[in-house]
Amino acid sequence: MPDAYGLFGWPVHHSWSPFIHGMYARLTGQDMVYRLYESPPERFRSEVLGFFGDGGSGINVTLPHKRAAADLVNELTPRAQLADAVNTIFRRGEALVGDNTDGVGLLRDLTANLGLRWSSPRILVLGAGGAARGVLEPLLSLGPSELVIANRTPDRARDLAREFATHGPVRGSGFAELEPQPFHLIVNATSASLRGEAPLVPIDVVGTDTTCYDMAYGAGDTPFVAWARRLGAARAEQGWGMLVEQAAESFEAWRGVRPDTAPVLEALRSRAATAANTRS
Ligand code: ATR
Repeated sequence: MPDAYGLFGWPVHHSWSPFIHGMYARLTGQDMVYRLYESPPERFRSEVLGFFGDGGSGINVTLPHKRAAADLVNELTPRAQLADAVNTIFRRGEALVGDNTDGVGLLRDLTANLGLRWSSPRILVLGAGGAARGVLEPLLSLGPSELVIANRTPDRARDLAREFATHGPVRGSGFAELEPQPFHLIVNATSASLRGEAPLVPIDVVGTDTTCYDMAYGAGDTPFVAWARRLGAARAEQGWGMLVEQAAESFEAWRGVRPDTAPVLEALRSRAATAANTRS
């Protein structure tokens, strides 16, 4: 029997993860299956424990369960602890270990795939929820001169900044109080794209040297990417690369093999382009 893996979330029917992990398995010759599990919050814990009780090898976890997954596992990796969220569970002996590969996935996309290099960049993170929290430490590893967390509800940004104060030069802000000065990198970690919106940020934060990165992705430009393009940002990217890189990191934690992400990213982009063309 092939080893069993899967994604638990609610809803997950739209997920690209079976396609990504299916390609990784073929490319690396692994005998495994990867299925989707629609798991509402009240059944999440029992269904995950049931999956592992039946001999399942590992899972990914997505919205809205990333925090519940952190409570369910026996151990957390340091980065999952810092993110206070788990997107990957693997077995270590009898124990279930929770990891978080989102942040490293973003970092690898920015540096390895997009080839971006800065010295002491000014970084702006939009949003102060779980998605933002998970990428703060990896972004601080870029050595920014400052990292500003800006949020629609400013107090949430300030609270999050205080929590990370010992990790680097972080401060919290509302959108309206942002100084009219371009950042080198702006990462959209809000869930605004899910509602077809872009966060209402002052336009002066985008300059001709600014890279805008949306952690969300979709067929065609996300609202944030479209906004950044209109303002003449140097680059405006959506999160396909982060998606395949976090998946590669999970895959390696499960199988001990690092898959090549380039062909998978190319395949995803062309599938997304076809979907966009079909729609228009
Ligand atoms: P996640 O785990 O995806 O981060 P979350 O914890 O619910 O989800 O956080 C969602 C984030 O997106 C929050 O920062 C939220 O701002 P508030 O704290 O003010 O609610 C932000 N957000 C959601 N919709 C938004 C919108 N239309 N414009 C700006 N920010 C938005």
